Amino acid sequence: MTDRSSESLFARARRVIPGGVNSPVRAFNAVGGTPVFIENAAGARLYTSDGRELIDFCCSWGPLILGHAHPKVVEAVRDAAGRGMSYGANTRREVEFAELLCAQAPSMDQVRLVNSGTEATMTALRLARGATGRRKILKFDGCYHGHSDGLLVAAGSGLLTGGMASSAGVSTETACETIVAPYNNLSAADKIVGEQGPDLAAIIVEPIAGNMGLALPKPGFLEGLRAMADRCGSALIFDEVITGFRLGPTTFGCLCGVTPDLTCLGKIIGGGLPIGAIGGKRAIMERLAPTGKVYQAGTLSGNPVAIAAGTATIQALIDEDPYPKLARLGDRLAAGLNGAAREQGIPMHCARQGSMFTPFFSENSVIDLATAKHCDTSAYAAFFHAMLERGIYLPPAQFEVGFVSMAHQASDIDLFIACATESIQTGAME
Ligand SMILES: Cc1ncc(COP(=O)(O)O)c(C=O)c1O
Repeated sequence: MTDRSSESLFARARRVIPGGVNSPVRAFNAVGGTPVFIENAAGARLYTSDGRELIDFCCSWGPLILGHAHPKVVEAVRDAAGRGMSYGANTRREVEFAELLCAQAPSMDQVRLVNSGTEATMTALRLARGATGRRKILKFDGCYHGHSDGLLVAAGSGLLTGGMASSAGVSTETACETIVAPYNNLSAADKIVGEQGPDLAAIIVEPIAGNMGLALPKPGFLEGLRAMADRCGSALIFDEVITGFRLGPTTFGCLCGVTPDLTCLGKIIGGGLPIGAIGGKRAIMERLAPTGKVYQAGTLSGNPVAIAAGTATIQALIDEDPYPKLARLGDRLAAGLNGAAREQGIPMHCARQGSMFTPFFSENSVIDLATAKHCDTSAYAAFFHAMLERGIYLPPAQFEVGFVSMAHQASDIDLFIACATESIQTGAME
């Protein structure tokens, strides 16, 4: 019989897939050890190839707000697949899906559907450059916007200089066009806009940051960016690949009342299948080909199976309004974790917004990349493994967001807290 242990599968994987994974964070490099291999999943549970049952708080990094294999999504996907996987031609259902997205998020008159969050942000930048005729981009340190060249850039040596490539293979010329400011720091952004404003095509930001762990925008930060973009005539882009439909059946921009020029979506809107979207007002969106001169295309864009999963997911979110329950569960989890850390005198706190959370191994709030870096990443790694041993699956890295889904019950959260308390008590994390 085939050896289904993680060790054996990972050894085989490394022979035929670089690093044994199809996306780097899955390699567990940030926490050490051998990654788990999943055989199937249902509701809030993952079942591993070596026969373990885990309660999932990673939820495929965000798309699975309804939990795994939600019956309505599975039925919609089965039905769509039975009608053909892809036509390379227009469908009624993609029109209805676009109408649904625009109706839920009034900041968008139009959406262009793509296949991933990376494609969405990459296209948003091209669109902003095409619309403004400018080259430069302002982004914020610690925000991740997918893996296109111009966005794999970290802060350079000075605030006003271009950034530095954060990946081999990204040219210095490309990195130089991206200027990087600290998150939540309006005066730094203001300085950059003051100096580089006439060259800035776009300011791109995660309106709630999820890629340095969960970091909330300070009051006035997003409003300040909106005012700056207006002042210098650049496009404001909200990357809502994580936050879109996570905190309400709409974008976070619509919830907080700050309207970006472009919104990037992904994850939840595909219900677990590959999708992305860029949305905005008609005037800017119509600059995309074929109405406009900014080229963008995709063989599988608007794929009928992904559209079916996305439509079923968004419709369930509208019909069932799980957001109050999700927020209650998120609060229960964060309060339990904070209580356990306090009792044991562990320098850890859990940041939480709705159903998004990050247990930070630091006493101090995380508001930007510099404060995130104060966290004890080896303590997180030990916590992650202690939890995994007890059947709880967290994101395998400190600087990520965990998620609660509609499939989680209060009893799952209580089990999470009991396991966390035990992990701390037994010194499993030392
Ligand atoms: C905020 C944000 N933007 C963009 C992306 C890229 O999306 P994808 O992985 O679908 O390309 C991610 C992925 O995690 C993300 O968190």
